Amino acid sequence: MKRPFRSDLKWSDVTPQAAYLNRRSLMAGAGGGLVAALIGGGAASAKPSAFSTSDPQTKFEDITTYNNFYEFGTGKSDPAQYAGGLTIAPWSVQIDGLVDRPGSYALEDILAKVTLEERIYRLRCVEAWSMVIPWIGFPLADLLTRVGVQPGAKYVAFQTLLRPEEMPGQQMALLDWPYVEGLRLDEAMHPLAILATGLYGDALPRQNGAPIRLVVPWKYGFKSIKSIVRITLTDGEPPTTWKTMQSNEYGFFANVNPSVDHPRWSQASERVIGAGLFAGRRPTLMFNGYGDQVASLYAGQDLAKDY
Ligand code: MTE
Repeated sequence: MKRPFRSDLKWSDVTPQAAYLNRRSLMAGAGGGLVAALIGGGAASAKPSAFSTSDPQTKFEDITTYNNFYEFGTGKSDPAQYAGGLTIAPWSVQIDGLVDRPGSYALEDILAKVTLEERIYRLRCVEAWSMVIPWIGFPLADLLTRVGVQPGAKYVAFQTLLRPEEMPGQQMALLDWPYVEGLRLDEAMHPLAILATGLYGDALPRQNGAPIRLVVPWKYGFKSIKSIVRITLTDGEPPTTWKTMQSNEYGFFANVNPSVDHPRWSQASERVIGAGLFAGRRPTLMFNGYGDQVASLYAGQDLAKDY
């Protein structure tokens, strides 16, 4: 595995100035208005949330150089290296299926009608590593309510941008492109499920799924689909990329569960990114520690079967 570049400076040494300069230069550029909308003026003005964890946050450098985004390659540092050329403005999201107001929604228009919050969430990848990420975003439920979910809708399907000329991984048969994911409607309406447009008080870096991605903190990270261009309300379970690839290894629910192992490795513990090779393992928590909020969604389900 390639190690990301490390400088001697700690992120905490450079954050305030770097974040300020970065935001200022972004604001000054052509996309300034959009950047302001994406972050709602930055973390300082984003409303803190009762849903946030107080666990130590992963360094910005680790969050933005250790990524899974196969559209830019399978190496952890590939997204940081190759996502820079992705055009993220203009951006719109097609919302269709069983909704009252289907259509193509410009990102600015979506953001004009939501309240952005900072949500500091644990992220647990199915590969048994974890981070703590301070996202900026808004509840997915707010957008679904705005477009009007029809009574027959039972699931929400999501689709990533398909643009092989800017996403070199899509020029290879790594996955069945475009990347698709899905949630049951009750999961999608849960207040913990957010659409994120920023992190660490700034616009979302491309390697993290700019300009808008899903974050579902009680599920394995592969459910949190990046760079979303389409949201479809359906009456049946939609196909999802990793389940389609290998259904005995990756299920539709993908709830974090220390007692249901991946067929090729244990899920009982996780490597905490940035915590050091030996100090950095901890026990995995059921539903990634969000059981009090979400366990009731799965009452009566056999979670070993519905993995
Ligand atoms: N979304 C798309 N479109 N393509 C991907 O390869 N990888 C998933 C998820 N969303 C992926 C994706 C996986 S496996 C994880 S763990 C998270 O993104 C990683 O998010 P991060 O890089 O922001 O930490």
